[in-house]
Amino acid sequence: METVAEHGATTPRVPRHVAIIMDGNGRWAKARGLPRAAGHQAGAEAVRRTLRGCIELGITHLTIFAFSSENWRRPEAEVDDLMGLLRFYLKKEISHLKGRGIRLGFIGDRAHLAPDILDIMEHAETETAEGATLTVTVALNYGARDEIVRATRTLAQRCADGDLSAEQIDEEAISRELDTRSLPNPDLIIRTSGEQRLSNFLAWQAAYSELVFIPVLWPDFGRADLDMAIEEFQKRDRRYGAVAVS
Ligand code: IPE
Ligand code: IPE
Ligand code: MG
Repeated sequence: METVAEHGATTPRVPRHVAIIMDGNGRWAKARGLPRAAGHQAGAEAVRRTLRGCIELGITHLTIFAFSSENWRRPEAEVDDLMGLLRFYLKKEISHLKGRGIRLGFIGDRAHLAPDILDIMEHAETETAEGATLTVTVALNYGARDEIVRATRTLAQRCADGDLSAEQIDEEAISRELDTRSLPNPDLIIRTSGEQRLSNFLAWQAAYSELVFIPVLWPDFGRADLDMAIEEFQKRDRRYGAVAVS
């Protein structure tokens, strides 16, 4: 469990784990009279800039929300465009990411993803497994409630198998079954586009995250915006339910 003692009295200068809800691609495209796919493409450039920024700042974990379990509700053509872009960028960027010490991982339900996308994801994970500079986790077909349902099923099955007792289910046991088991909780969650909600992102892990909402559309997100979000984070007093240490 996170406590003030664990984290020290002061907020670390740079958050260890930043998570981003990259929102506003569609509105960015619409404002320019372009198809929504053009917004998603421009959004991919913003991801590149952000990776560079995180490495320069010494952030060690970045998690980005690329496709939610609810995004299947979009028109099929847009879902196809998004999956196509994912295929394209993942294939194209792997060697580049590896060269910069980036370790790539994914969270979300893999069950209904196209087999070729699964292959690309697995290839990306093994190829970059040695990356020690920045761990980038892509949330793909991810929904926090879905993640908790899947974890609960696994725990229930283990109880039914006699491998676990109900009393042994504690916060640690649940955390270990979540897709994020190998990641620290996010210190800072940024959402672009001005919307102020989590939209089913990291509900369990966000319990004590600092939230920063930026009124910039994701394709316009640049280094100055990242710096501003970090500055805002540094002003926050993280108490974890305890009393502020002055
Ligand atoms: C975020 O931008 C990208 C994804 C959800 C895949 P949107 O596509 O949600 O853009 P807006 O919110 O419609 O502007
Ligand atoms: C959240 O954005 C999902 C991603 C950024 C991938 P949405 O655009 O899907 O969220 P809502 O619909 O505005 O809540
Ligand atoms: Mg949106």
